[in-house]
Amino acid sequence: MQNLPTAETYAKEEAYMPWGILTKKIKKVIVDRVPQNGRVVDLLCGTGNLVGLLQKERPDVQYVGVDLEKDFIDYASKQFPAVNFTVADAFGWSSAEKFDAVLCTGGLHHLPYEKQEPFLKKISALVKPEGFALVADPYIPDYASEQERKLAAAKLGYEYLVATVNNGAPDDVVRATADLIQNDVLLSEFKTSVVKVKPKFEASFAKVEMHKTWGEDDYGDFYFVCSN
Ligand SMILES: C[S@@+](CC[C@H](N)C(=O)[O-])C[C@H]1O[C@@H](n2cnc3c(N)ncnc32)[C@H](O)[C@@H]1O
Repeated sequence: MQNLPTAETYAKEEAYMPWGILTKKIKKVIVDRVPQNGRVVDLLCGTGNLVGLLQKERPDVQYVGVDLEKDFIDYASKQFPAVNFTVADAFGWSSAEKFDAVLCTGGLHHLPYEKQEPFLKKISALVKPEGFALVADPYIPDYASEQERKLAAAKLGYEYLVATVNNGAPDDVVRATADLIQNDVLLSEFKTSVVKVKPKFEASFAKVEMHKTWGEDDYGDFYFVCSN
């Protein structure tokens, strides 16, 4: 079961959590790479912040945002009326036309472990032959047992909380960040390690590039740029 913050708190998180660094970085990658008058879909788009920001910089592009949470989509539609937002389970959602870019940021780790590779394959099938997918998530240190997984999740969560408090976050954002520890340790979210996820990307795309924007050693925020 998901334990999500309100749309208002969620939209503020970017300004204080390390995730904001990743958003700035990938925004540039996408803006530079999407062709003129292209088509972009953001799966598990949350409150629509990423496509909303992209729309301001590249208004020539057509944007679609998909998320399960009606409150998030209502919020996104009000904030970014130029984007076509839809409430849907991203597994059931489909499109007759493929996309120049398929985005999924902070989304893969919301899907149960066994659904992550099938979802990457679904993303791969939605990308035009000359297009790309950009999939970004926080990753925990690698683990060899359930006890190690819990401790690895706690490690990432603690470091995230320290960075967020040090960035001067208000209490609702601190609470949402602290909730991540419980969500990850007790598996209402499904963060994994880059060691475990990389083969799933490689099984789904011909070309996979991995980049990191925050964190030490083998944990932190990573994004994968993939194509076929
Ligand atoms: C952490 S948020 C990421 C939001 C946004 N992409 C971002 O980078 O800020 C994860 C989102 O996944 C959505 N979600 C989880 N499972 C989903 C599914 N099966 N289909 C569509 N959305 C889903 C949740 O509603 C939530 O908004």
